[in-house]
Amino acid sequence: MDSYLEINRANWDDRAPAHAASPDYAVARFVEDPEFISNVVAFDRARLGDVSGLRAVHLQCHIGTDTLSLHRLGARMTGLDLSPASLREARSLAARAGAEIDFVESDVYDAPRALGGRTFELVYTGVGALCWLPSIARWAAVVAALLEPGGRLFIREGHPMLWTLADKRPDELLVVQYPYFEHSEPTVDETPGTYVQTGVVFEHNLTHVWNHGLGELVTALVDNGLRLTMLHEHDTVPWEALPGQMQRVGGDEWRLSDRPERLAASFTLQAVKDS
Ligand SMILES: C[S@@+](CC[C@H](N)C(=O)[O-])C[C@H]1O[C@@H](n2cnc3c(N)ncnc32)[C@H](O)[C@@H]1O
Repeated sequence: MDSYLEINRANWDDRAPAHAASPDYAVARFVEDPEFISNVVAFDRARLGDVSGLRAVHLQCHIGTDTLSLHRLGARMTGLDLSPASLREARSLAARAGAEIDFVESDVYDAPRALGGRTFELVYTGVGALCWLPSIARWAAVVAALLEPGGRLFIREGHPMLWTLADKRPDELLVVQYPYFEHSEPTVDETPGTYVQTGVVFEHNLTHVWNHGLGELVTALVDNGLRLTMLHEHDTVPWEALPGQMQRVGGDEWRLSDRPERLAASFTLQAVKDS
């Protein structure tokens, strides 16, 4: 039996080239327009504040579009990801965009060693990142190790309540099917396709994922010496997370079509490692 890392790496390696070729990740726009930034980072911008000059690491950077966007906002970026194929796309994009960004291949849990013990003023992550990690406590310890005193974590992520929901049902009810709290056994899924427009047929479709409750996340950060400075819940999420039940609302945000006030679809959290 392969480990969850091998299973998930194969899934992401398969998808990275298709993501880079898809209009949804807008790679061509990044190359053509030196001012262009991703919808994800554009959404974050008001909460992020000024990042110019900050030494920052983007955990689970995938094909580097958000990493490049943060570079364009003036941060000095390092991107880290498990998937070599994702990093190939990220390095190619940065080269074509003329951006100096360091990309490092590593499991998040091994990041402090892979990054040579370097520390950062900003740790940025999210949008489909935490669900690949079995333990939120281990992740929070990594974030704390990567931050220098006074540095901050910025994460916008799918809300743990969103990850509990069943696929669309004929009666259109939102039904809680999957765990909300962290659970030692992964949710095992085998879904062909991906979350962007593509005609590519993938070979590796198996994934192992975990949910982490919002309280578990906050507690893990506090236990590792971080101080919560922001927790905003949003009724939108930057991909069509519940296909057939969401509508696009400006940029690339998606919200429940019917009574969106029922669901926190994503959240933004910031926390500081005090000096
Ligand atoms: C949905 S993508 C990240 C989303 C990113 N916000 C984006 O859309 O570009 C998830 C990324 O997490 C990476 N990943 C999954 N498990 C990981 C792990 N244990 N350590 C490091 N990266 C991991 C995958 O390779 C993939 O590139």
